[in-house]
Amino acid sequence: VLVVRHRMRSSGRWSRVAAVIKELEDRAATPIGKLRQVADAMTVEMHAGLASEGGSKLKMLISYVDNLPTGDEAGLFYALDLGGTNFRVLRVQLGGKEKRVVKQEFEEVSIPPHLMVGGSDELFDFIASALAKFVASEGDDFHLPVDRQRELGFTFSFPVRQTSIASGTLIKWTKGFNIDSTVGEDVVAELTRAMERQGLDMRVSALVNDTIGTLAGGRYYDRDVVAAVILGTGTNAAYVERANAIPKWHGLLPKSGEMVINMEWGNFRSSHLPITDYDRALDVESLNPGEQIFEKLISGMYLGEILRRVLLKLATETALFGDAVPPKLETPFILRTPAMSVMHHDNSPDLREVGTKLKELLGIPNTSLKTRKVVVQICDIIAKRGARLAAAGIVGILKKIGRDAPPKDDSKLPRTAIAMDGGLYEHYTIFSDCLQSTLKEMLGPEASTAIVIKLANDGSGIGASLLAASHSQHLVFEES
Ligand code: GLC
Repeated sequence: VLVVRHRMRSSGRWSRVAAVIKELEDRAATPIGKLRQVADAMTVEMHAGLASEGGSKLKMLISYVDNLPTGDEAGLFYALDLGGTNFRVLRVQLGGKEKRVVKQEFEEVSIPPHLMVGGSDELFDFIASALAKFVASEGDDFHLPVDRQRELGFTFSFPVRQTSIASGTLIKWTKGFNIDSTVGEDVVAELTRAMERQGLDMRVSALVNDTIGTLAGGRYYDRDVVAAVILGTGTNAAYVERANAIPKWHGLLPKSGEMVINMEWGNFRSSHLPITDYDRALDVESLNPGEQIFEKLISGMYLGEILRRVLLKLATETALFGDAVPPKLETPFILRTPAMSVMHHDNSPDLREVGTKLKELLGIPNTSLKTRKVVVQICDIIAKRGARLAAAGIVGILKKIGRDAPPKDDSKLPRTAIAMDGGLYEHYTIFSDCLQSTLKEMLGPEASTAIVIKLANDGSGIGASLLAASHSQHLVFEES
């Protein structure tokens, strides 16, 4: 009798598990029709954001970059990249058209979490001090003409209202940073003051978003790069727009006729987005409720957290992990996306990696194969939704610039390259494969051969130094 009752209980449990999964699947579904609606909505919002300030959730920020690198850039330049859990400092000796990047060195420093939510000066002092140390280690392979001040390209990967190529105020923090005193301040002035406090004599020549840096770095190596996408801790895109297609731009028309736009697409939202109760709860409990809705469905900071929320529901409502709910499962952000990726990619017959992660991270000792399969299935739903939505976003941009389909006159669609960066795309293979195949699915065979995604590994650092070079206070001539 006991055995029978136990079986019944457990079969009841599995049907409840199946019901929870089914509901998630339905709510998170991204059939092609829905993706097309998302892409169209993206295009519409792009127009609205370009039309007027505040015209859309998409800020469509003007970057003041109206010329992308040509290859002529020369000299010694520094870059500083702040925007995720790490920041990077970089120096590069640029040698002009022939020699290109002669030499580069970088260092990566992780940011202590308390500095992400502390005071502005503390954060900038920490950065400036790491930068000062790095500058002090400059060797003889790098050449700065005598009496010349060192120059820096500052990649600051948050929404900034630029006031010039080398100044701009922070609109808001994203991605787990939350420092009130920086909002509304000129981040270049903040950094400059911190550098002065360190006794570091350096001038910021360009302030750029990571998408802009990636676009610039991508263009340096490939003339066909017209857009850049970041899929990392956060997600965002930038692209080259015709200056006369930006009604809200009242400045002089640039000679190039072009202006690079930082879309801040992480803040995109639309009634077509497949949002579940898990997403709603994540948003409400986040540091920035109501903001960055697209980002919260797609990017590395959130995928693991969505997974945790689904697993917690399964633990409480279906006893997936046994009668007691594993206490660690209740800790927000305990499951990071890299761990989710490891579980999702587990190819072993008994899903050993899944078992290990559940044990190590959540303290769940023994899981059955069936339970592990459920975990992988949830990973699949969450990661693929994110990847497919990112693909739809890219199609939205391609539509806006008329590169999503061959021109009407029967000519061929020109080769179109998109520079891509970010750990999520780089390391989460199922995610990037799914993004690629979804692009194909949406664009069709002909257009999708013209569109190439190029992984630009830390292109944004090089990009920022290239933009520092082209906006240098000194006229930099190529050495002949
Ligand atoms: C967040 C930031 C954005 C950045 C992106 C990728 O969305 O707001 O500025 O480009 O993350 O790092």
